[in-house]
Amino acid sequence: MARPSVRIAPSILSADFARLADAVAEAEAAGADAIHVDVMDGRFVPNITVGLPVVAALRRVTRLPLDVHLMIVEPERYLERFVEVGADILTVQVEACVHLHRVLQTIRGLGAQAGVALNPATPPVAISQVLGDLDLVLVMTVNPGFGGQAFIETMLPKIAEVRRMLDEAHSPAVLEVDGGIAPHTAPQVVRAGARMLVAGEAIYGAEEGVSAAIQALRTAAKAGLRESETPTSR
Ligand code: DX5
Ligand code: ZN
Repeated sequence: MARPSVRIAPSILSADFARLADAVAEAEAAGADAIHVDVMDGRFVPNITVGLPVVAALRRVTRLPLDVHLMIVEPERYLERFVEVGADILTVQVEACVHLHRVLQTIRGLGAQAGVALNPATPPVAISQVLGDLDLVLVMTVNPGFGGQAFIETMLPKIAEVRRMLDEAHSPAVLEVDGGIAPHTAPQVVRAGARMLVAGEAIYGAEEGVSAAIQALRTAAKAGLRESETPTSR
């Protein structure tokens, strides 16, 4: 089967941490494309979540790519260890990197995919000099730190701008969005050019259950994709 053109990455931040293996298994069975792991240090963001041992434990229970989002200061200190324990995609926050180019090269050199995340207040130009060194750009659609926050509508033109930058550079990098993604926001972000959707509350907080929630997101994403592929759109 061909790879779906919009990937869905459930964020385990909204799952029950006492039964993470079950949460991941449910997502995998429902056709999730990756598992998004939010690493927070209480310094870059006002919250502390999980770190290396949890990524290692998740690696043992799933074959899905682990999409590890580092919301930590000085991420360069931990890159090697995160790749060693099983991160497939390692995303750093651009605001936390003094030497972004070096960080991205290090991640690729370790054999992982290199991602960069932009906070809502950070303009796309922050990554303009490293487009060739990236495998993924993550546009934050909330201020990082917590699950369940409201989608920031004004990020839509920014997603479109990043899309243009990547297309103009002929970059194959994946454009991911994270924060407040749900069936009602998914079509808009996909229309703007996103091709990988992170969702926490909309999946693990969904009353209808993980499987139905993933299907609902996929349906919404496909609707956005159909619209963005009409000749008049872009
Ligand atoms: C926020 C995290 C997100 C979070 C998204 O700082 O980076 O990955 O889990 O949660 P929702 O989808 O609930 O907004
Ligand atoms: Zn995240």
